[in-house]
Amino acid sequence: MTEDKKKFNITVKSNTKDLYGFMKLVPNRKKRIEQSSNEPIISDPINSLARKLHPERQYLTISEITDQTKSAKVFKLKPDPELGTKELAYFRAGQYLSLKVKVNGVEITRPYSISSSPLDALEGFYEITIRKEEHGFLTNHIWHNWKVGTKVVSSGPEGFFYFEPLRDLKNIVGIAGGSGITPFRSIVKAIIERKIDAKLTVLYGSSEEDDIIFYKEFKNLEKEHPDKLKVIHILSCEEVSLEGCETGFITAHIIEKYCDVKNSTFFICGPQIMYEFVANELKKFKLPQKRIRREAFGEIKDVVNYPGFPKKVTEKTFRVKAHIGSIIKEIPAIATESVLVALERANLTPPSKCRSGECGFCRSLLISGEIYTSPIDDWRRAADKKFNYFHPCYSYPISDLEIKVPRHL
Ligand code: FES
Repeated sequence: MTEDKKKFNITVKSNTKDLYGFMKLVPNRKKRIEQSSNEPIISDPINSLARKLHPERQYLTISEITDQTKSAKVFKLKPDPELGTKELAYFRAGQYLSLKVKVNGVEITRPYSISSSPLDALEGFYEITIRKEEHGFLTNHIWHNWKVGTKVVSSGPEGFFYFEPLRDLKNIVGIAGGSGITPFRSIVKAIIERKIDAKLTVLYGSSEEDDIIFYKEFKNLEKEHPDKLKVIHILSCEEVSLEGCETGFITAHIIEKYCDVKNSTFFICGPQIMYEFVANELKKFKLPQKRIRREAFGEIKDVVNYPGFPKKVTEKTFRVKAHIGSIIKEIPAIATESVLVALERANLTPPSKCRSGECGFCRSLLISGEIYTSPIDDWRRAADKKFNYFHPCYSYPISDLEIKVPRHL
C-alpha cells in the first residue's frame, strides 16, 4: 500500500467493475421494457406527489378571524373540497402564499407569509396574519370584505426564506419589523414541534407597544422553551411601559448586545425602510453574504431613490403595447409603478407570485423599449438579461414599451 492509500484507507478492488456494470445496464433495461405492460399509466406517483407538494392553486375558505392588535388580524384558512382542494400543501416554515384577490373587478395577487406551523397544514389549516396599512389598497379591501366563509384562492407555498440546517448556522437571528414577525412565528413553532437543533433570537422592531403582534404568545413560548426562543422588543416611540424593551432602532449595538454575531445566520423580514437600515448596520460586522437572508418584500415602494433610476422620467406616463395570450392591448404605464401594476390596472391578469423579482413567475419578453430594473436584487439569469427577458413586478417603464407576457389561467 502506498502512503496515501494507508492514510485514507482506500482499497481498489477492480477498475473494470464499473465498465462491466455499465455493459449489463443496457440489455437489462431492454429486457425490463419487453416485460413491462402495454397498459397506459393512469397515475404517475411521482407527478402526483409533486402536484400535492406544489399545487398551482389552492381553493381555501376563511374559517376563523382573530384580532391580534388593533391593526392586525389572523385569518385561518381551510381547504375548500367543493372547489377541489381536499388537503393543504405542506410547506417549509418561513414560506408564503400568493393570494389572488378581486378588487373592484380587477384581479391582483399579494404574497403573505404563513404564520402557522407546517404541522398545522397537515392538521388542515394555514394561518396568515395581515396588518392593515394606512393607505393599503388591498388591506382596506380585506378588512371590509373578508369574513368567515369568504372563499380565497392561493398559490402553493412559495419562497426561499426558510431555515436550512445544511446551510444555516443553528443560532438563527430573526430581525423583524411590523408584520415581518409572521414567518418567525412559523419558524419557531417548527423548531419546537420538530425538536430541531436550533435557537431563534428575534429582534422585533415596532413603532409602539400596541403594534406588537403575537406579544403574549411569544412571551409564553419563551417561558416554555428558553433554549429555543428569545425575543427582544425594540420600540421606536418615546414612552415605553413594557419591561426589558430597548428603544430606538435595531442598530449594530443592539444586535451585538443580544446575539452571537459571529456564529449566527441572520434572517430579515420587515418593511423596505427597515431592510436598508439593518443592512447598513450588519455591514459593520463584515459577515459573509450567505449568513444574511432576507425575505422578498414585495414591490419597490420608492423606485425614484433607487440607484440609477433616471429622475427625468419620474412624472411621465408611457404607452405599453402588451401581448398576453391572444390579446394585444395598449395600456398606460406610470414610470414610478411597476409594469406588473400597469398590466393589473388594465385587468390583463398577468401572472405573479412574489412581486419582488425573485420567483420568475411573471417572466416576460421585452420586444422594444427601455425598462429600469434595480441592480439590487435583480434575480434574473444571465441568459434572460442577454435575451431581453424581464420580471414586470420588478421593472419600471422608462420609455414606451412593447412586451410579451405569459398567460396563466
Ligand atoms: S412575481 Fe415573482 S418574479 Fe415577478
